[in-house]
Amino acid sequence: MYRFPLHFLLYTCAILSLLALVEISFFYSNQKDEQQYEIHKYSMEDESAINESVDFELKKRRLPGCLIIGARKGGTRALLDALALHPMIRAARREVHFFDRNDTFSRGIAWYKDQMPLSFHHQLTIEKTPAYFPSFVTPERVFQMNSKMKIIVILREPVIRTISDYTQVYYNRLELKKSLPLFGEVVFRNGTDQIDTDYKPVRNSLYEIHLRSWLNYFPLSQIHIVDGDKFGIDPLPELRLVESFLNVPHLINSSSLVWDQRKGFFCFRKNQRQPPHCLGDSKGRTHRPVSSSTRENLRKAFLPYNERLFALIGRRFRW
Ligand code: A3P
Repeated sequence: MYRFPLHFLLYTCAILSLLALVEISFFYSNQKDEQQYEIHKYSMEDESAINESVDFELKKRRLPGCLIIGARKGGTRALLDALALHPMIRAARREVHFFDRNDTFSRGIAWYKDQMPLSFHHQLTIEKTPAYFPSFVTPERVFQMNSKMKIIVILREPVIRTISDYTQVYYNRLELKKSLPLFGEVVFRNGTDQIDTDYKPVRNSLYEIHLRSWLNYFPLSQIHIVDGDKFGIDPLPELRLVESFLNVPHLINSSSLVWDQRKGFFCFRKNQRQPPHCLGDSKGRTHRPVSSSTRENLRKAFLPYNERLFALIGRRFRW
């Protein structure tokens, strides 16, 4: 009487244990599948899609935190393109002329922001317009928009810079079929050795005058001066100084800067897969001929301006 139910009980227990084992192993095998699915979900291919959607959400146009204000023909385009290699820097491609022109300035800050590239919040936007440096109205307008704006000026030996500026004006006039005055005639006043400070290619080289008007609004610590002559032949040390000034890590390296024998200048590449990008023909072109005596007279005329600039910035250049 007693044996039958005991056996029955043992059989039932055995069957239930077996069922439990099957259930447990089924549960674990399901969990493993789930884990494999998760891993598959985050494969490299999917990651780029995720990043794109993050880009879409977080990228927006932001006002610049830094301006390259000049000097015209100082190497401003090359400097901007070199800085754009940095992953934490975004550069406005064209010269916006927001602060120096009343017609653009009157369009307002929202318009100005619209001219900027898309960026993440950790990236710094830079705009360059060399006409800002000699513009009387610009420093105050920039200050009113952002008193903490970082300012970069790239300076070049002023006689060569003046000849470069004149060369640009010369070819622009040639294209417009306008008269083509000789260098010596426009740079000096009526056959004297007095420079014509109203002639723009000369005026743009009077760095001291322009810097003074910026120093009325911004402390010298907020203005970084790049040595344009050094930058042209050996950009990396100058770029290191700019990275420090902008408080970004030193990430631009020599593999992105490629010397182009034919151009006689460095060209830039963002990654090894891309060919280097060189600046256009108007950058680094042959200058109009200028006699050595005219150069010497110009050099002498610039000396007092240079000396006052060196005193102002507490730093000397070789010119
Ligand atoms: P030149 O054409 O007189 O040689 P900007 O961009 O401010 O107009 O300056 C133009 C100058 O940038 C050129 O003047 C050239 O000397 C200088 N420069 C410096 N680095 C350069 C580079 N990597 N490619 C071309 N030009 C460069």
